[in-house]
Amino acid sequence: MTLATDWWQRGVIYHVYPRSFQDSDSDGIGDLAGIRSRLDYLTWLGIDALWISPVYPSPMADFGYDVSNYCDIDPLFGTLAEFDALVESARARDIKLILDLVPNHTSDRHPWFVESRKHRHGPKRDWYIWRDPSTGGGPPNNWLSNFGGSAWEYDPVSGQYYYHAFLKEQPDLNWRNREVRNAIYDVMRFWLERGVDGFRVDVIWHLIKDAEFRDNPINRAYQQGRPEIERLLQIHSADQPEVHGVIAEMRRLIERYPGRVLIGEIYLPLNRLVAYYGEGLSGAHLPFNFQLIHAGWNARTLASMINEYETALPKGGWPNWVLGNHDQHRVATRLGADQARVAAVLLLTLRGTPTLYYGDEIGMADVPIPPGSARDPWELREPGLGVGRDPQRTPMQWDESLNAGFTTGKPWLPLSDDYAKCNVAKLASTDGSILRLYRDLIDLRRRHRALSIGGFRLITTGGEILAYERFDESERFQVFLNLTREPQRIDEGADPSGASGARALVLSTHGRVERDFKAQPLTLEENEGAIFKISN
Ligand code: NOJ
Ligand code: MG
Repeated sequence: MTLATDWWQRGVIYHVYPRSFQDSDSDGIGDLAGIRSRLDYLTWLGIDALWISPVYPSPMADFGYDVSNYCDIDPLFGTLAEFDALVESARARDIKLILDLVPNHTSDRHPWFVESRKHRHGPKRDWYIWRDPSTGGGPPNNWLSNFGGSAWEYDPVSGQYYYHAFLKEQPDLNWRNREVRNAIYDVMRFWLERGVDGFRVDVIWHLIKDAEFRDNPINRAYQQGRPEIERLLQIHSADQPEVHGVIAEMRRLIERYPGRVLIGEIYLPLNRLVAYYGEGLSGAHLPFNFQLIHAGWNARTLASMINEYETALPKGGWPNWVLGNHDQHRVATRLGADQARVAAVLLLTLRGTPTLYYGDEIGMADVPIPPGSARDPWELREPGLGVGRDPQRTPMQWDESLNAGFTTGKPWLPLSDDYAKCNVAKLASTDGSILRLYRDLIDLRRRHRALSIGGFRLITTGGEILAYERFDESERFQVFLNLTREPQRIDEGADPSGASGARALVLSTHGRVERDFKAQPLTLEENEGAIFKISN
C-alpha cells in the first residue's frame, strides 16, 4: 500500500463564509481581520486548512460570487495588506489558506464586461457569451438560470443576448477564448505568488458550454414546487468534454507551485464526478464529493454509496467528503442534533479529505429568516421553495455576549435564538459537547495514520449499523455508526472477515460510558457512533 503524504490528503479543511465568521469593525459583516483574530480557535480545533468564500471586490449581488476585480480585496473585508497578514498568521500556525476562485462568471460591473458590452466588435466582446436572438425572436435557446428564469439577458444596445448561468449580474466568461483563460491564469498566479495554498474553484463543471448551444432537454421527472432550473436536464449547458482540457491547464499551472491544491466544486452524479480527476490525474486534486449531503441517511444507502465512490475513484485519485457548505441546509437541520454527531464521526473517519463548514462543529442549525428579511438572491427570485441560503449563513456563535460575540454592530443576518447555549465558549468547556467531539475526532485522526491516510473496508452488519475498518501496517480501527433512534445490536456473524482480537473503545459520541464492549453481541446506544481499536 502506498501511503499518501500531501497535507491536503492528511488534513482537515475548514470552510469559512467570511461575512459570517467574525466582524472586527462593527459594520455587522465579518471580515479578514475578524478571521485572523479567531485563528487561535482554529488551532485549538486542530484543522489544517482554511477555505474562505470570495473576499474580492464585488457589488455583492451574490455576496462575493460576482467578482468585479480578481486581484484585490473588497473594502468590506479589508485590504490586501490585511490579507497578507492573514496569510502570514495562518502560516505561523501551520494553517493552509485556500481561496475561492470564481472563473465561470464575473460581475456585470467588472471592467471586462463593461468593455465587452460596449460594442459588438470590441476587443473584449468574445470574452463573454453573446448570441443573436433566436430566429423567431427571444432568447437564443431554452437554457435556464440556476436562480430561475432564462439564462439569457437582452442587451438593447447591441441587440444581442448574453448568457448567465446564475444572476444577470453574473455574466458567464467565454472559456473557449484563449485570452480569457490567460487572464484567469494570471489571477491564479497573482494569489499563488502571494502565498495562498490553493483554490476551491467555483462551479468548475460549468466552464465550457455546448459549442452549438443546443437546447437542453425537458426533465420529465420535474416536480412542481422544485426550483425552475430542474425543469431541464443540464446536459448541454455544463459538464462538456472540453472542460477537462481547461482544468488540466489550471492543474499544470498549480503544479509549478509546490504543495498547492486544486479543488473543484462539482454537483454531478458519481460516475460523472470522478471524471474531474482528469485523464491520468491531470484534473482537480479534489473534485468535491457532496454525496453525504444528498444521500439517504441509513446504513444500506450510505454503505452502497461509499462503496460506489471508492470503486469509481480512478487509480491514485484521492477521495474527499463534504458534510455542509454555504449552499446547503445545515447538517444539524438535515439530520437532527443527535445524528449530526454521528455524521461528525463519519466525516472524520472516512477515507478521504474531510471538509467541514464553520458552525457545524458547534451544532448550529439553520436559522429561520423572518419574512421580508431574506438576503439571498436565489430566495428573492424563487421565494417560498426553501431554496434560500441565508439560514445556513448566519453569524458564528462565539459566546453568550451581545450577538454571540460576532459583532458589536447590527449583524447582517439574524443570530440563532439559542446562541446563549450553543456557542464556542460554552461548548468548549462542556464535557461531551459536539464541539469537544469534533476536536477529539480531529485529534484522533491526526494521531493515527490509519484514520487519515490508511486503507478502508466496509464491514457487513446486515442491519441498521454502518460499519467499516480503517487500517495501516501497524494499526486497525473499527467504526460503528448507529443511524437510528433505537439501540442496535451488531450482527457480527454477517461478516466472516470481521474482528478478531481484542476491541478497545477509543471514542464514542456517548462519551466514555461504562459498558461491556467485550459482550457479544455488541450493542450500540441510539444515535451512537463508536470507534474501536483492534489489537491482534
Ligand atoms: C456556487 C457557490 O457556492 C454559490 O454560493 C454561488 O451562488 C454560485 N456558485 C454562483 O457563483
Ligand atoms: Mg466588518
